[in-house]
Amino acid sequence: MKSVLNILTLVGASLLMTSCFDKSAPNYQFFPNMYEPVSYETYGESNVFNSPTGEKGKVSQIPPAGTIKQGFVPYEIPNTPEGYAASKANVSPLAADQIDAERGKELFTIYCAICHGEGGDGKGNLVKREKFLGVPSYKDREITTGSVFHVATYGLNSMGSHANQLSKEERWQVADYVMKLKSELK
Ligand code: HEC
Repeated sequence: MKSVLNILTLVGASLLMTSCFDKSAPNYQFFPNMYEPVSYETYGESNVFNSPTGEKGKVSQIPPAGTIKQGFVPYEIPNTPEGYAASKANVSPLAADQIDAERGKELFTIYCAICHGEGGDGKGNLVKREKFLGVPSYKDREITTGSVFHVATYGLNSMGSHANQLSKEERWQVADYVMKLKSELK
């Protein structure tokens, strides 16, 4: 009799303990912030700083006007047909002894040859495998170092911009190398 009572007490106690458990709510949280992180969206609004106008909680994390990120060098010629035409007269800021054809070749092989071909004839692997069409041979284009830099920076029609992959200096190196390839194409 006594053991039956014991069992009943035990069952009762465990029922009591589990009955309040709510499966849809989070369990006991030791470090709640780690379960419920405060996340910020890039360029989202945040109340970490006051806005320049003093409005609390109303500042987006957009860089202040007129500022540039570290190491970024602006390129003044705009991405327009007129800009493209103007870029042809632009000259490389690299002095003759700063031009490194070996590096130009290396960067070209990594970023451009897949479409343009190692020799710049427009027959890269993607073209041979018919994955990408309309890639010209450099020999057929009226290009200058300045315009190659312009196209590498902004892209041209189906060719994308390479400004994120290559720094400004690297794009000038590649542009010089493209002109070298053009001069070697027959
Ligand atoms: C995904 C393929 C692809 C890659 C990668 C690519 N290009 Fe192009 N490129 C093209 C195509 C397509 C065109 C033709 C665009 C047009 O004239 O409509 C082109 C055109 C050009 C032209 C001729 C522009 C003119 O003024 O007529 C140059 C110069 C050029 N690319 C340089 C580069 C350089 C430098 C790189 C590497 C940094 C590169 N391309 C990477 C596809 C590519």
